[in-house]
Amino acid sequence: MKYNNIDFNHKTILITGGAGFIGSNLAFYFQEFFPQATIVIFDCFRSEATFSNGNLQSFGHYKNLIGFKGDIVCGNLNQKKDLEQLENYTFDYIFHQAAISDTRVYDQEIIMKTNVNSFYFILELAKKHHASLIYASSAATYGSMPSPQTVGKESPENPYGFSKYAMDKIAFRYIKENPSMNIVGLKYFNVYGAKEFFKDKTASTVIQFAHQLLAKKAPRLFEGSDTILRDFVYIKDVIQANIKACVPKKSGVYNVGTAKPRSFQDIADILQKELGTDYQTEYFSNPFKGYQMHTQANIETSKEVLGYSPQWSLEAGIHDYIEEIKTIYFTEIL
Ligand SMILES: NC(=O)c1ccc[n+]([C@@H]2O[C@H](COP(=O)([O-])OP(=O)(O)OC[C@H]3O[C@@H](n4cnc5c(N)ncnc54)[C@H](O)[C@@H]3O)[C@@H](O)[C@H]2O)c1
Repeated sequence: MKYNNIDFNHKTILITGGAGFIGSNLAFYFQEFFPQATIVIFDCFRSEATFSNGNLQSFGHYKNLIGFKGDIVCGNLNQKKDLEQLENYTFDYIFHQAAISDTRVYDQEIIMKTNVNSFYFILELAKKHHASLIYASSAATYGSMPSPQTVGKESPENPYGFSKYAMDKIAFRYIKENPSMNIVGLKYFNVYGAKEFFKDKTASTVIQFAHQLLAKKAPRLFEGSDTILRDFVYIKDVIQANIKACVPKKSGVYNVGTAKPRSFQDIADILQKELGTDYQTEYFSNPFKGYQMHTQANIETSKEVLGYSPQWSLEAGIHDYIEEIKTIYFTEIL
């Protein structure tokens, strides 16, 4: 579905992090609806390197891009010479999704270098090319601030959240110093949907619970999961937000959620219904400190300034996604 009247045909579009979950969805969105667009992906893909938490250092996967016909620049945000390859193009739009997206990486140096240092290059590239820049911020910037979380009232509680908070501050300064630039930061809440599988353990609980059920195992939830509420947002609403962010009434930073928080228990229950199972839920104690217990995006300014309007309830999103979840299970897990 086209979300506004912008004709991206004959435009040159950079998607950093295009081998990842959200970036690859954006790439296929443009390829499908704007076949004359030049789409350039910048991503380091995955190596076998892991962080001390055992997770991969980057989750980009070639399988997210099977069928993609655009250009791919394999490069690392931490390597200036890699980023400089992007100067061979002149971009009209830049969607900056690449980052260490794992909220449980605690090596502050690597997070800050990867997520923040590279952002200056991306901002300068957008400035030089007169490109609209839409970048991924995060609800992690709010830490445990009370709901509804509102832009301007952040309190990050981990290095990842701080890195996105720092990006927002830098973006606001750029907006002030460069009033003609179009810069929009999108604070995604908990995104779920197609092409998230290769995020491994950091993929959403939707796919993780569904795969437990498909393996004929009872869903395993934290104790009190009916009272842990999050704003789960479907990937198609995230794409909508990115497209609408290309013509904001005003540069700035905006929340991308549904404003309707739901519990982890709801996810398990909806999935059981979709998959026709009736397992008794197993509960275990939550091992995580600094766990967000209630998130709910305040989307008033996102509606006003971007025209963003979430279309997918949790039930509808999971229903739309369930066939993909099954396909992934049968092709990647069994
Ligand atoms: N998925 C969510 O729920 C969510 C929520 C809030 C914010 N975000 C943000 O949205 C963006 C996209 O997230 P995602 O869920 O698609 O995650 P993802 O991990 O699937 O995508 C990130 C991509 O960046 C690439 N990357 C990582 N380090 C890199 C480096 N040093 N150089 C080049 N490429 C590198 C990875 O290979 C990967 O393809 C990220 O900035 C993330 O922080 C996501």
